[in-house]
Amino acid sequence: MAQEGAPDGVQVVVVGSANVDLEVQVPRWPDPGESVIAVAAEKFPGGKGANQAVAASRAGGVSTALISAWGADADSALLESFVREAGVDTSAVQTVDCPTGTALVMVDPLGTNVVTVVPGANARVALDDAGRKLIAQAHVVLAQLEVPVETVTEAAKAAKETEAVFVLNAAPTIDLPAELLENVDVLIVSRHGAHELAKQRFGMYPSDDGPLISVLQRLVPSVVMTKGWKGSVVGQEGQEIEFVPALPVESVDHTGAGDTFNGVLAAGLAGGASLGDAARAATAAASISLNRPGAGPSIPLASEVAVALETGQVPPAV
Ligand code: RIB
Repeated sequence: MAQEGAPDGVQVVVVGSANVDLEVQVPRWPDPGESVIAVAAEKFPGGKGANQAVAASRAGGVSTALISAWGADADSALLESFVREAGVDTSAVQTVDCPTGTALVMVDPLGTNVVTVVPGANARVALDDAGRKLIAQAHVVLAQLEVPVETVTEAAKAAKETEAVFVLNAAPTIDLPAELLENVDVLIVSRHGAHELAKQRFGMYPSDDGPLISVLQRLVPSVVMTKGWKGSVVGQEGQEIEFVPALPVESVDHTGAGDTFNGVLAAGLAGGASLGDAARAATAAASISLNRPGAGPSIPLASEVAVALETGQVPPAV
């Protein structure tokens, strides 16, 4: 379903995972072999692909579709209503004979998380005719790495054929094949992911942000590094590196903030914004997400991002 006011055709296609997150708030990290008693536990819709598609759609002005897979179970029903209510086209989400993906998310009192993903149906995400048709209409194709890298590589090739912008959020960190990297227009990585990638490819990483981004620009033309409550850094061919500060936040829960960033950035690019402007909106949106619990439910609406950009403040923590 296209967003109201959006031009015809799907503008952002997200290729990625859909998970139900079991999120547990812990008073402190358990040591290996130790048990701790949780403060609270809740189930949330999540998965990097589903979160990013919802973030792009909630950003407004662009129509968004998701290429993913889930099982025929209660978890998929939760995910389906999450993405559909946000206006995301699910015609290329396959129902497979495998349980829906699950993520175990632990969050500490500072909002920091550790995540373990059980891929389930996400391991079966493949590019079929419906998916290819969507990519052929897309302005921006956005993918992450919780689904088979072969599928992401195919999606990148398909995007290149139709001159769509291909944005790769390289999370989680894996060994990236050359045939994928050569079709990436914009690479989005966390600071940790940037270190890992630089180490993997060049055997070293500079500790300062600017040189780190420059090293990664040897791989792809544009690199965006996300730094949580510190904001983001944008590197583009032939341009000065740009630092985009986050808005002041309490950081209740980091889960989904990166996904919010990626989806809003993709929507901005699809709507014709420059990478810098798209990163500014994405950084404001991610700041709002940091102040809210859960992945899916923390993703803001376009109206909330607009107020945050105008006032420099995010809504109070919930
Ligand atoms: O990026 C956050 C997401 O990572 C969570 O929703 C979880 O499902 C994992 O995919």
